[in-house]
Amino acid sequence: SSIAKNATSSLGRTIKTVTIIGGGLMGSGIAQVAAESNHKVILVDQKQEFLDKSLNIIQTSLKRVIKKKFDKDQQGGEKYLNDVNGRIQTSLNLEESLQSTDLVIEAIVENLGIKQKLFKQIDQIAPKHTILTSNTSSLPITEIVQDVKRQDKVGGLHFFNPVPVMKLLEVIRTSSTSDETFQTLLAFGKALGKTTVSCKDTPGFIVNRLLVPYMIEAIHMIERGDATPEDIDTAMKLGAGYPMGPIELLDYVGLDTSKYIVDGWKKRFPDDASFKTSELLNKIVGEGKFGKKTGAGFYKYSK
Ligand code: NAI
Repeated sequence: SSIAKNATSSLGRTIKTVTIIGGGLMGSGIAQVAAESNHKVILVDQKQEFLDKSLNIIQTSLKRVIKKKFDKDQQGGEKYLNDVNGRIQTSLNLEESLQSTDLVIEAIVENLGIKQKLFKQIDQIAPKHTILTSNTSSLPITEIVQDVKRQDKVGGLHFFNPVPVMKLLEVIRTSSTSDETFQTLLAFGKALGKTTVSCKDTPGFIVNRLLVPYMIEAIHMIERGDATPEDIDTAMKLGAGYPMGPIELLDYVGLDTSKYIVDGWKKRFPDDASFKTSELLNKIVGEGKFGKKTGAGFYKYSK
């Protein structure tokens, strides 16, 4: 079986240069782990101030890494930081950023039309061999890349927040993704130090498909007055062994983001009972309470 394994993995190419489009929460984390694992990274965003913010996030996160990895070795830590930073370039110019890249990871806003337009553009500019992927949480990869010609070289790379900490990477295969592309993406995930799982291009892939309906059901429990948020969270932590309860997790993920995902699914799959919306969720989001990041959601947070 090890021969068979080698035979399949030799199908893949080695990714050396990665272009990450969108340097927000996810893009900056992906840039960091890619640079830490020896890849050349080009991080693209729309404004210099976004790129500056992104680099700041990466520096703060890297300092934490160094504190752990190079506790007493200040010189080693400084060298590590310099080396990693030396592998990260930023760019405001999409065309330039794609010139000699092996892999594109799109991590811009979760909006189908905007993503479709971007992918069409990327497909026209990027070298022939370049693989094009999206980090979308809730949109079908197949629709995002509908105007892309290289259908064998597309896929999904779904990371988890915070990217440097979370060990999982979901690798998504559309019905057109070639074996070579798929193996390349799996090998890239391994090179990043992630554990990969693969999933077809289905709503929510594995994690969100199971997690989102579960979190929404927890909100319905509050709506019905079955139990308090505190008791629901305590129950799932101590009774199911989850590190966070569903309500805490919702506040952490962002209530606006969660609402956006369920609304999208509800619209796309009106007949699927597992994609429910919630009046209470709509109300809280309507009040501008998006969770931890705004200081309030189901719980209050001191900023
Ligand atoms: P974010 O809002 O923090 O970052 C998005 C960035 O993309 C911003 O810096 C924005 O300026 C930039 N951007 C927007 N349009 C652009 C364009 N046309 N060209 C270049 N840059 C552009 O968003 P976040 O949370 O990082 O999410 C990004 C993607 O990752 C979304 O598709 C989301 O569904 C997905 N995702 C989010 C997770 C999360 O926990 N927030 C988890 C896994 C995936």
